[in-house]
Amino acid sequence: MNEVYLNGEFLAADKAQVSVFDRGFLLGDGVYEVIPVYAGVCFQLAGHLTRLQVSLDGVRMANPYTISQWQDIIEQLVERNGGGDQSVYLQVTRGVAPRDHVFPTNTTPTAFVMSNALHPVPEKYKTQGIAAITLQDIRWQNCNIKAITLLPNSLLKQQAQDAGAQEALLIRDGYLTEGAASNAYAVIDGTIYTAPKDEKVLPGITREVVIELAEKNNIPLVEQAVTEQQLQQADELWVSSSTKEVLPITILNGNKVGAGVPGVVWQQMDTLYQDYKKSGG
Ligand code: PDD
Repeated sequence: MNEVYLNGEFLAADKAQVSVFDRGFLLGDGVYEVIPVYAGVCFQLAGHLTRLQVSLDGVRMANPYTISQWQDIIEQLVERNGGGDQSVYLQVTRGVAPRDHVFPTNTTPTAFVMSNALHPVPEKYKTQGIAAITLQDIRWQNCNIKAITLLPNSLLKQQAQDAGAQEALLIRDGYLTEGAASNAYAVIDGTIYTAPKDEKVLPGITREVVIELAEKNNIPLVEQAVTEQQLQQADELWVSSSTKEVLPITILNGNKVGAGVPGVVWQQMDTLYQDYKKSGG
């Protein structure tokens, strides 16, 4: 049985309990992070903790811990759960209070961290690519905040699954924003396009790594959103996230993307990404 961290203590997962009056439970009033761990070491921890602060600021919640306290809690939990490859999930809610839309005063936030084994991405997703469908982006106007309120994302991802696809690519005002649980990229004539950082997309940590690797290796990349039409005609499409890394989409809405196999630019990026991971990031 894995251990979890809840409000100051480490305890067995089945012993951790939160009040039914927690605002995370009643109102979805909280933010979260997902951090991959390779060989016992957190990948891009500083980036994740910086983004956590931005999310907390975005919902006007105080951070219960300093960066080094978070680091300490997360590293301890990873060690207690046996090191290796893990996926750390952390969540902060506004805490326990009588149900009211208006923020409570003087409430202690609920801080929860769990970690689970990080399963490697199925090999066939890399050799054959994944399937995606396009859907209208029905989410709110603050997608840059990593809020626990994931009902739209969940509905979209389920719709993709029902259609036999692994991800939904989201369209807002005619432009590709991102995936239901990933950032998205189109490769057109050798240039990688990904939507710019604004309130329409989550500033993905994996996305930052992709941008850095493209820059260092002279692969043209622009932070510019593509239209739905460009998306349909792209040579390559990819998605990225902390748990799935960078994956090629080879089927979009039932049609082949490019030649219908993982593209050459993706191959190059995946090699760079794997090397970067091995070097400790
Ligand atoms: N999701 N965009 C959305 C909407 C996401 O949910 C995620 C990741 C990303 C990629 O961000 P990053 O590279 O920092 O993981 C982009 C996580 C993994 C999740 O909700 O489980």
